Amino acid sequence: MLNTFQQAQHPMLPRASHDEASRQEFAKSLKQFVQQGLLPGLQPVFSQRAAKAFEQEHGRAPQDRREIRKVMEPDLYFQHYAALNRIAQELMWNSVIDSVERQLPALNEGAKAWSAKTQAQLRITPDFVPPRYVTALDIHCMPGGYASELSPGDISVAALYDRGAYLYGMGFAGPLNDDMGRSVCNYVQRKLPGFKPRRILDMGCTVGHSTLPYKTLFPDAEVWGIDVGGPVVRYAHARAAALGMDVNFAQMNAEATDFEDGYFDLIVSHILLHETSGKAMPRIVRECHRLLSPGGYVIHADLPPFDLMSPFTQFILDNETWYNNEPFWGAMREIDQIKLAVDAGFPADSVAFATAPMAILESSAEGAAGYTGDSTAAVADREFTAGEFAPGGGWEVLVARKAVQA
Ligand SMILES: C[S@@+](CC[C@H](N)C(=O)[O-])C[C@H]1O[C@@H](n2cnc3c(N)ncnc32)[C@H](O)[C@@H]1O
Repeated sequence: MLNTFQQAQHPMLPRASHDEASRQEFAKSLKQFVQQGLLPGLQPVFSQRAAKAFEQEHGRAPQDRREIRKVMEPDLYFQHYAALNRIAQELMWNSVIDSVERQLPALNEGAKAWSAKTQAQLRITPDFVPPRYVTALDIHCMPGGYASELSPGDISVAALYDRGAYLYGMGFAGPLNDDMGRSVCNYVQRKLPGFKPRRILDMGCTVGHSTLPYKTLFPDAEVWGIDVGGPVVRYAHARAAALGMDVNFAQMNAEATDFEDGYFDLIVSHILLHETSGKAMPRIVRECHRLLSPGGYVIHADLPPFDLMSPFTQFILDNETWYNNEPFWGAMREIDQIKLAVDAGFPADSVAFATAPMAILESSAEGAAGYTGDSTAAVADREFTAGEFAPGGGWEVLVARKAVQA
């Protein structure tokens, strides 16, 4: 059991009216019911009903996640689960849209005003074209995706993401939705003692949830967050300023950035890679190699590869591909990421997968920046369900180090 958190009410966050807050809380609770009430029923349905039907027809057990899907899809329990999961996801975003639309002109103005208060850079590229894998669909059913702009200077999709991501995480990512960044920071502190990066890049930063912990850990470092979405980097810049952090943000494609060779000592990303594509991923890994200084580290936190888990778990996780507009979710888990890194130039003995324990699980652990019980914090003791992203309570990280000498 652990505490979950209310979201911190920073100045850029859209405020919910009484009715909006009530709908949002309902959407969050519905998601929780699907995860904790319905999801556990799928295993017995599979082993006691669906797998037996498959065996009767084929004379053997289903062998992989595709065969499991074939036999589970017609099952009424599964259909009920999958439909409700999708409805909860759509309801979650819709419950936030009302708050964002009601306050939009003020939110856009607020972003400009906060951005004007910081020395940190905000770089928006005129006529920037985000890649098709970001714009072709509403990723995880989020209306507008990350890059839609309703008017010049618009930040609406970013405000939607900030609140929606909190509801999606059901309070498990901390008051500032920053558990991934904190967890990787803890990993860096423990595994790379003495490492003091002068410049840090967070690729695919969205609204900067995971970016800010790096500035906290390394206050003297020049920290950059980049993203292809204009609204999200604008919001990230304003949000950081509102939280009193000088962090630079830029609209850039991680496949080919404008930074010079060797500019960064540490490059990180958090759940970026599975939202790209089979062609983009190798380019991003190569770009990381180009951007790193000799001896610099890259750490990509993302979904664990499929070969680390059972076919049934693979089937469950792959539901995101099928029902949640996540086209690369399953395919990404089958890519040989170690080979990608080696092909990009990282020495083979420097590349490995590791686990970064979730900061939220180790508030009091030695050497870890966890969470403390402040006013925005603990609201309830709940059964811990890290779910798809962090099974077992840890974020999967791909770590590689650039050779010290070329
Ligand atoms: C799931 S979100 C990342 C969440 C964020 N890192 C965090 O920890 O809160 C994925 C982000 O990656 C961005 N993205 C996708 N492809 C990209 C690319 N080629 N370059 C930069 N950003 C990209 C998307 O626009 C989106 O904001």
